[in-house]
Amino acid sequence: MKSVISYPCRGKWGRADYRGNCSGHVIKDLLELYRPRTFLEIFAGGGTGFEVARELGYIDSAHLDLNPKWGGWNALKDEVPVSAEFIFCHPPYYDIVVYSGEVWGHAHEDDLSRARDYEDYIRKLNIVHRKLFDSLPIGGRLATLLGDCRKKGIYYSIIKDMEFIGSLESHIIKVQHNLTSSARKYRGFFIPIIHEHLLIFRK
Ligand SMILES: C[S@@+](CC[C@H](N)C(=O)[O-])C[C@H]1O[C@@H](n2cnc3c(N)ncnc32)[C@H](O)[C@@H]1O
Repeated sequence: MKSVISYPCRGKWGRADYRGNCSGHVIKDLLELYRPRTFLEIFAGGGTGFEVARELGYIDSAHLDLNPKWGGWNALKDEVPVSAEFIFCHPPYYDIVVYSGEVWGHAHEDDLSRARDYEDYIRKLNIVHRKLFDSLPIGGRLATLLGDCRKKGIYYSIIKDMEFIGSLESHIIKVQHNLTSSARKYRGFFIPIIHEHLLIFRK
């Protein structure tokens, strides 16, 4: 793994039709690099991390999400049930994809993608990151995958606005593929966003 990653095919893991899903290659490469003894995935969504973990032999890794399919675990209110050496976290990118009530079930007030506004989203994201980081053993790692977004001409850099915790061990740029925005032709000065950020914090 280098500081720019690009996977033109997302791989076979998890549901490709789960909106906002990520490539299983990201999780696989991280697990093969760090080889943690214990693995926890937050925001499990379409099951990408679960399938990667099982394939790599993590028979008791934990995968949590507000989506009832994963037990309805609420990152804002519930305790982190295990202390894992490595946590992969893939939160909603503000409200770019709204999950509860659209991707699954009914609207949920603690769904991060339903935050009142951008400030409320960042406040909630900070709470979740802090809680996850606190659950790590010393030396453990928290990897969080986040995108930037643009709404009504305003550019939102989530990683600029959120809190950094522990020591930032790596900042990796992930190229995004198969986006409708990157296939479209734009006039003027508009630069489409075709990357995400993978931040790795060490405790
Ligand atoms: C970007 S998706 C994760 C996609 C996943 N990595 C995949 O490949 O399918 C974000 C997830 O955050 C979940 N979510 C939103 N708010 C949450 C909360 N408060 N607690 C736990 N999960 C939440 C949504 O249900 C959604 O599945």
